[in-house]
Amino acid sequence: MSIQNLIDNNIAWANNMVEEDPDYFKRLSQQQKPEYLWIGCSDSRVPANQVVGLAPGELFVHRNIANVVVHTDFNCMSVLQFAVEVLKVKHVIVCGHYGCGGVRAAMGENEVGLADAWLTNIRDVYFNNEQKLAELSEHDRVNRLCELNVITQVYNIAKTKVAQHAWDRGQPLSIHGWIYGLEDGLVKDLGVTQRSRQDLNKIYHLFATSADNRPDIPFSPVTY
Ligand code: CO
Repeated sequence: MSIQNLIDNNIAWANNMVEEDPDYFKRLSQQQKPEYLWIGCSDSRVPANQVVGLAPGELFVHRNIANVVVHTDFNCMSVLQFAVEVLKVKHVIVCGHYGCGGVRAAMGENEVGLADAWLTNIRDVYFNNEQKLAELSEHDRVNRLCELNVITQVYNIAKTKVAQHAWDRGQPLSIHGWIYGLEDGLVKDLGVTQRSRQDLNKIYHLFATSADNRPDIPFSPVTY
């Protein structure tokens, strides 16, 4: 398929949408009010909106290789903050998928390039669960690591101040961990939904401190 085919497809799609609903684009262009943020893998076989049957305007989407949530990733953190604090989404869904190439690469010894640094996050998940994973066949080991990676990212979102401040404000926010099957098109809920900070170890608890009630930390100038 040539690039011109894609432009032609676009014209046909836009015409079709207007035929079915003349105000469709006019209405959508005014505002978006999605209730869900989807954090998924960039894999072309996991199209976020189609998988959950949502129309444009109904799902805010962030995708990266192997659906990793890292606190120093300005891209993912900006999406999360905007989704929670401005759009006020009620649900964040981390959706991984079985047979993920990123997860598989993180289990291998071959360099893949820049993504190796990114995938170190998944090597850490492997390391933390090494004993249990070692008991599985290679096929099951990849798929279990795909699940454990999703679960880790759910907790990583709960560890952010964006999530914790939302809970402090009484804003309803649930963080879900799902995994998608490339072979059957079905999503499985991994049952790790976070609705408060109660499952988080205390070391990750963050409470908002305004400028005037910050703890009084003595200032010690650095000398060289
Ligand atoms: Co993937």
